[in-house]
Amino acid sequence: MILNTHSLNKISFQLKKNQKIKFIRVYRWNPYLQIKPYFSVYPVNLKKCGSMVLDLLIFIKNYHDSTLAFRRSCREGICGSCAMNISGRNSLACLTNYLKNPSFLTIYPLPHMKLIKDLVPDLSNFYHQYSLIKPWLITRPKNNLIKENLQSKTDRLVLNGLYECVLCACCSASCPSYWWNANKYLGPSILLQAFRWISDSRDSNELNRLKFLNNKTRVFSCHSILNCTVACPKHLNPAKSISQIKIQLKYLVGGKN
Ligand code: SF4
Ligand code: F3S
Ligand code: FES
Repeated sequence: MILNTHSLNKISFQLKKNQKIKFIRVYRWNPYLQIKPYFSVYPVNLKKCGSMVLDLLIFIKNYHDSTLAFRRSCREGICGSCAMNISGRNSLACLTNYLKNPSFLTIYPLPHMKLIKDLVPDLSNFYHQYSLIKPWLITRPKNNLIKENLQSKTDRLVLNGLYECVLCACCSASCPSYWWNANKYLGPSILLQAFRWISDSRDSNELNRLKFLNNKTRVFSCHSILNCTVACPKHLNPAKSISQIKIQLKYLVGGKN
């Protein structure tokens, strides 16, 4: 029997009353098995499993198939490592309640990323781009670093909506501009982080940070598609950060090179 959407829904419906079974269809790929990617379908008894998609995956790994690979750490939406595509939407598995999803789930890795195995994307390029924006505080050389580097309450408020980013890459993996230009365009996640450091009143490197971004592709490959903001599981707005960077580039360093 071919386990397509229709047949899985039918089986789920037949089993629903008594057994509370949910079918989980998971994308599989192993670089060491010289075969094409395929789906594995697992029936999970919901009575024995927690309510989040990450609980399902842990259940599958413990009771059905220990070879299934996925990343996770905190299970609290803090570490950003369990990002994947769940029923067509990039999200964090530990924050996604499967009861709100249809009777079966399809889980893919983050789209348009190189893969290491199954649901584990290769984030080397993503972290390399993160390192390029110097994601740390650069203070004035004469600052007395023995004293606490204080911020006013108003200056601190500016960082709300930026510091909460967990670098999960859900936004970047949902951006068509990033899909096609990931080697040049920094993508929404890294640009939100860049804006976080530009906006920090304690940082003295604002102009250099903007000069680095003032490039035809690093920022300006964003075409305001807004998938990034829709995708963010932390309800942040990377598209807004990018537009604010563009405005600052226009007025502070004179726009595109
Ligand atoms: Fe993840 Fe949101 Fe940060 Fe993008 S902006 S990396 S989606 S937390
Ligand atoms: Fe992409 Fe978001 Fe810009 S989806 S094109 S980064 S507004
Ligand atoms: Fe840490 Fe999901 S396991 S964000």
